[in-house]
Amino acid sequence: MPPNILITGGSGYLGGTLLAHMHTLPHGSYTTLYALVRTSSQAESVAKYGATPLTLDLSSPASIKETIIANQISIIFHLINPVDTENTVHMIKALAEVKKANGNEVHFLFTTGAKLFSSHAGAPTDGPLYDTDEKMYEIQQGQVSSAPHPFAALGVQANSLVVSTGKKFSVRTYVFAPCIVYGQGEGFGNKISIQTVAIVQAAKALRRVYSIDEGRPTWPVCHVRDNTTLYLRILESILESKEIGYGENGYFLASSGSVAWMDLYEAIANSMKKRDLIGDEKVVKANDATLQRIGDALGCPKDFAPVQIGGLCTFTAKHGQQIGWKPQFAPEHIIETADEEVELILKHSKF
Ligand SMILES: NC(=O)c1ccc[n+]([C@@H]2O[C@H](COP(=O)([O-])OP(=O)(O)OC[C@H]3O[C@@H](n4cnc5c(N)ncnc54)[C@H](OP(=O)(O)O)[C@@H]3O)[C@@H](O)[C@H]2O)c1
Repeated sequence: MPPNILITGGSGYLGGTLLAHMHTLPHGSYTTLYALVRTSSQAESVAKYGATPLTLDLSSPASIKETIIANQISIIFHLINPVDTENTVHMIKALAEVKKANGNEVHFLFTTGAKLFSSHAGAPTDGPLYDTDEKMYEIQQGQVSSAPHPFAALGVQANSLVVSTGKKFSVRTYVFAPCIVYGQGEGFGNKISIQTVAIVQAAKALRRVYSIDEGRPTWPVCHVRDNTTLYLRILESILESKEIGYGENGYFLASSGSVAWMDLYEAIANSMKKRDLIGDEKVVKANDATLQRIGDALGCPKDFAPVQIGGLCTFTAKHGQQIGWKPQFAPEHIIETADEEVELILKHSKF
């Protein structure tokens, strides 16, 4: 019998878009699609995508284990929290129990973030860091002590823990890194992303777009559709029992390429000036006092503001293309459509 799948984060931006596109997988390639929900209204919504709502208490290891085993779930795509160092372990152990019971291969995909492969997390940035790098696990483990931010140290720890726990319990694991994702979310819940939202939120509060770093550091970008087709490509490959690389060889960056933050700031500034949301479209480098104000606007400490809307990330996608993923949108598309992105953010944000 084809496997049962669980998707978490279905009311979110990425998970919602994934759920909305699950119908594109070949008919009959899986048995039951479960979606983790926290409310009855989410349960009704996921059912519209053909998913069976599943509630489980993530704070209870016993609840995680029992639910996964009782529903014979063999594949989990986890899209909730990139610094999760607990639920992931319990989920992987439960998958191992399912494998023991029915003998079939089991798979756990963990959604991390490109930040954990960037300057903010002590990753190498002196050249491209390919998601196919054979030393990625070692590199990430080294970052646990070199990451400049505690948040990042926890995140790289979370990634490595997924890989090591999977290895220990013979569960195939994948570490999936979204980057600056943009475009309208297509699920029933959150329609907007994270970093583009933070730039607009800070600029609206300060009435100007500020740059964070010296020079023109770059960051990988990806349209939400392309991000979704990589999730689907991986899932389809798993369902077809294809060897796509897992564990220490299971890192995937969803990105068609990188852009300079400065180009993104300028495109957003032009759009916001057009709407009279900022006083001047000229992007100015933030000083210490401005960083404090950006932190206040984003509800984070001053030191964390650069982590939200700046930095250097040379993480480069190769693995997806190797398994047949072809992104539709060139990296420049985010710059060309910045005005639409601002419009979308203003329509759906609460600030
Ligand atoms: N969007 C990006 O550009 C981007 C980039 C890099 C990494 N990521 C990572 O990718 C993941 C998904 O991102 P997203 O943009 O889709 O985030 P999102 O829109 O904020 O969605 C988060 C999802 O997680 C669920 N969730 C949070 N805490 C939960 C809990 N304790 N129990 C059950 N569900 C819980 C939320 O459910 P409720 O609706 O019930 O709160 C929601 O479905 C996150 O880990 C994020 O950090 C995203």
